[in-house]
Amino acid sequence: MLDLHCHLLPGLDDGATSMDTAVEMARVLVEVGVVSAAPSPHLGSGPGGDAGLPQAAATRELLRGRLQEEGIDLELLPNAEHHVCPLLFERIAKGAVVPLGGEGKWLLVELPWAPLANPEAVLFRLQTLGYRLLLAHPERYSYLEEATLERLVERGVRTQLELGSWIGVYGRRARARACRFGDRGMAHVVATDLHRPEEWLGKARQVFEKRYGATALKLGWSINPRRLIGQATPDEIPCFLEGGN
Ligand SMILES: [Fe+2]
Repeated sequence: MLDLHCHLLPGLDDGATSMDTAVEMARVLVEVGVVSAAPSPHLGSGPGGDAGLPQAAATRELLRGRLQEEGIDLELLPNAEHHVCPLLFERIAKGAVVPLGGEGKWLLVELPWAPLANPEAVLFRLQTLGYRLLLAHPERYSYLEEATLERLVERGVRTQLELGSWIGVYGRRARARACRFGDRGMAHVVATDLHRPEEWLGKARQVFEKRYGATALKLGWSINPRRLIGQATPDEIPCFLEGGN
């Protein structure tokens, strides 16, 4: 599996608080079958923090070295969780963003938690700048309507749902929305969004697999993430239920 959303890099945002915690989180990921991770420190003016890019790259190298020492086989790739805000457009103008895997035009983006008047307009603006968008956890934005998400998906936005949503980690509403988005073909990637060494990952994986099957799990947590890193077009990123049961 390739986990495209996790907060593994210590001391940069609201994720891992120390290198030891990061190592523990890496162990938890490996235990549930993750072989590659693209740690996604928060970037921008959101509540999760604003990681500096040089610090993020340096911390990723430090963690890579530590994982080697510990004998933990987890590949680490460049990434960031870009908070959609005016600052993001300034960062884009300066080239200070981190595409998925460090190359290409796919950005992992997070909408604000407070209601945004017109999420479609702001995401469309990012697309007109040439970016392809992987939208983090659409099931968790209380104001994002299903019809809006449908239009976004039609326009090439791809979605990343939280593995934990299927066991209610983010509440009953997020769980119901994740199920509905999955059933309606509006879910493309699953990721952990891990902030600490959580114990629920194994159970969440089981529940997901029971609902959608092993093929869907592989498409959402391995094949589609690899395609995104490999610069696939939106048309090449199907809902994870395609080919599933
Ligand atoms: Fe996140």
